[in-house]
Amino acid sequence: MRLLAVTVSLGAALLVTMTAPSYAAGGDAIFKKSCASCHYTDGPAKEKTIADQLAKKGPELFYAGSKFQKDWLTAWLQAPKPIRPMKYNSLTDKNAGDHPKMSAGDAAAVSEFLMGLTSKDVKAGVIKAKSNVQGKNIFAKKMPCSGCHEYSDKGAVRGGKSGPSLVGASKRLNPDWIYAYMANIKAFKPVRDMPDFGSVLNPKDLENVAAYVASFE
Ligand code: HEC
Ligand code: HEC
Repeated sequence: MRLLAVTVSLGAALLVTMTAPSYAAGGDAIFKKSCASCHYTDGPAKEKTIADQLAKKGPELFYAGSKFQKDWLTAWLQAPKPIRPMKYNSLTDKNAGDHPKMSAGDAAAVSEFLMGLTSKDVKAGVIKAKSNVQGKNIFAKKMPCSGCHEYSDKGAVRGGKSGPSLVGASKRLNPDWIYAYMANIKAFKPVRDMPDFGSVLNPKDLENVAAYVASFE
């Protein structure tokens, strides 16, 4: 009798799976199908070497929920524009070609999924976006940040092109993530071109430069 019940429920479950109507799939399923070939969502253990980093064309997303602002993410997935003018993890040079574009529904589902991927290395509520003189001095004078990163200054875009553009960081990035990334970059990118500033700048400097970057229009 019990065996029969099991068989019947198994049969029913199978039937449900096979005849499932085509409602929007969960964000994780969409991601696995259309995005995982280019982006890691597990890490940083996956990326110990340059070869690991280069095995995926896009940047790792295992801390996406701590890094991005959800509204930016949902909008970007529907109308992606280049962020990195670099030689790797880029749409403009070695990986020429458009980024996949998603429908509004799929973008919302995938964004929901990615925002759930958070990092324990990012403490919430530490940094408030704020333009400040100390941060500006570090970014543009004391440290070589502006030599590698584009940023907007009174409406004009300045800066270098060996790192991701920081134009629009106030809408794109979580200020607390910027601080955590600067302070402990190894937790996010064990292999990278960006210098480690965690031991070069003191905590106050790191806070000021993170708040400054987080204010970029
Ligand atoms: C053919 C490879 C490829 C595929 C497939 C792909 N991406 Fe990307 N993705 C990239 C590259 C390269 C970048 C970097 C673009 C830039 O910075 O200019 C990127 C950037 C991103 C970013 C911004 C990351 C950051 O740190 O700035 C997100 C979010 C993203 N992709 C999500 C997705 C999603 C969701 C999908 C599935 C629909 C997807 N990608 C499919 C290659 C890909
Ligand atoms: C030698 C060039 C270089 C310098 C100098 C540099 N960066 Fe970077 N930065 C990079 C690169 C390259 C990345 C992307 C990480 C990677 O893949 O290596 C990056 C990533 C970042 C990111 C994350 C952006 C994103 O969307 O993922 C922030 C924020 C950042 N840098 C801020 C700074 C600040 C602030 C300074 C100065 C204290 C600085 N950088 C100095 C090259 C540089």
